[in-house]
Formats: sequence, structure tokens, C-alpha cells
Amino acid sequence: MNENASFNSEQFKAITRDGWNKAASGWDRYTPQIHQWLTNATELMLDMAKVEPGFRVLDVAAGAGDQTLSAARRAGETGYVLATDISAEILKLAADNAHKAGLKSVATKVADAEALGLPAADFDAAICRLGLMFCPDPVKALQEMHHALKPGACACVMVFSQPEKNPCVGIVQQTALKYAGLPPPDPYQPGGLFSLGKPGHLDHLFVNAGFGNVSSKIISAPFSLPSASAYLAFIQNSASPVLQILSKLSETERACAWKEMEEKLGAFQTANDWQGPNELVLVAGEATKHISATGN
Ligand SMILES: C[S@@+](CC[C@H](N)C(=O)[O-])C[C@H]1O[C@@H](n2cnc3c(N)ncnc32)[C@H](O)[C@@H]1O
Repeated sequence: MNENASFNSEQFKAITRDGWNKAASGWDRYTPQIHQWLTNATELMLDMAKVEPGFRVLDVAAGAGDQTLSAARRAGETGYVLATDISAEILKLAADNAHKAGLKSVATKVADAEALGLPAADFDAAICRLGLMFCPDPVKALQEMHHALKPGACACVMVFSQPEKNPCVGIVQQTALKYAGLPPPDPYQPGGLFSLGKPGHLDHLFVNAGFGNVSSKIISAPFSLPSASAYLAFIQNSASPVLQILSKLSETERACAWKEMEEKLGAFQTANDWQGPNELVLVAGEATKHISATGN
């Protein structure tokens, strides 16, 4: 995240891990809303990763496991899904959610996406939903996925596109930074929410990581909620990067920041509900040959 630009990548990842450990239960509580928001995009991601019944699927930065469960349902009883994440707290919730859903084919492994520590050529597909942009070295993470995939197997990654296409994320982030006295950052700086969103950028990273047949799709994914305050409540409960910035403020300053965000987010109120525009990029590639990943 932007205010952490001066940290080295290991410090950055430790801060990210700590932030998501704290935001884990909030993100999990909002699973129904997140599921609805990302249903079409998730199905497209599973299509682009070519997930089929009986497949062994690797899920990177799995969070509380919403897309893990979708992958497990598609892979069926004879399939297997390994959910991985840097945050042990959020991954425990993914395991609980799989258990509650009666999905016995889901396993979990706490792992940094840049050092998965998995055997070579063991998976039929890999997915990563809204997680790769947090990696300081996304090519390394893609190489790790490539390493774990059988030749010919596909990976698909979903990230936010550009800031102007995701205005509510920008409003929340910029308001938080302003109250924290931090300058507006380069939106594309590594580890930031939009770091992989420039058209064509993630496609190039797939190629650099050794993937072939790289293709991408850009889709609109508006977040529909009853009101701007409902979106703000989602952010207050689950948006780890923003919570990290605001954690340094006094309660009064934080309250002012939340108030300003809610006023600005009110611009997206419609006659019937609130519609926050979002645009997502999905990139897929095929593991063409075996490459050795760092750390394995
Ligand atoms: C926005 S959440 C998305 C979670 C889930 N994929 C979803 O779409 O609901 C981002 C997730 O990325 C994880 N993450 C961030 N940096 C990571 C890293 N370097 N390695 C693995 N996971 C990471 C966080 O712990 C968090 O669970």
C-alpha cells in the first residue's frame, strides 16, 4: 500500500499480513455481498483457468475462500482445491467456510504467493482473485503458480483496472491519505491496489513469468448496495489497506475522514440503490514448460 512505499518488500509483506489478520473477520462477514459483487467475474475467472470436474486447483491469496468454494463446486467431489494465503487468520475462515459448506475437497496452506513452496507440475489450474496486486514482486508470484502447474494447465488472475474506472476505491484511498497527511501516491506503484491495472501490463508479466497463450478480458463489476453508508461499512470492516492508513489517526480525525468519504460516495446513489462502478482485468495464460521457481 502506498504509505508503505519506503519499506523493503519483506517489511511490506509483514505489514500486509498483519493488516489482513486484523481485517480477516470483517472480510469474511461481508462474504455474501462480495460473492454477489464478484459472481460473474469469478465464473469468468474459472472459465479462463479452464477449471473442470476432477481438477486439482491452486487458489492463491484465497482470503476467506469465497472463490475457493466456487472452484471446489466446479471441480466436484473428485477434484481438489488448495487455498493459500499469507494471512493465517483469514485462511482459517476459508477452511471453516469450506467445512460449513460440506466441501471435503478443500485444503489450506499458509504461504506467501511469492514463495508457495509447492511441488512442480502438481495442479491442473490456478486462480488468484484480487490478491496479486498486493505482491511487491508479482512476476515471482506468477512464476510460483507456473511452477505448480502441469504443462498445458492454465492460470487466471483478477485485479482492479485503472483508478478512474474504480472511483470509489480512489475516493476512499485518497481521503484516508489526505487525513493521514500523506501525499497522493503514484497509483501504479508496486503493491498498491491499482498496481497491475494499466492495460496490457499484467499480460506482459504473464509472458515474463513463462506463460504462453496469454489472453485478457476487461469487465465491469459494479458493487450494488442499499446506500453509500453500506459501502462505507464494508470498507470500515474489511478494507485492510485503508484501515492501516487510518489506524495512525485519532478517533476524531478518523470520524472526519469517514464522514468525508460517505459524502463523496453519495454521488453514486441511484433512485433505487447505490452503485459503485468497478472495472476488473482478468488475465490467463498456459504453463508451457517447466521453470524453476525461487525458493523451491
Ligand atoms: C482483497 S483480499 C482477496 C481475498 C479473496 N481472494 C477474495 O477475493 O475474496 C486480498 C488477500 O490477499 C492476501 N495477500 C496479500 N498479500 C499476499 C501475499 N504476498 N501472498 C499471499 N497472499 C497475500 C491477503 O491476506 C488477503 O487475504
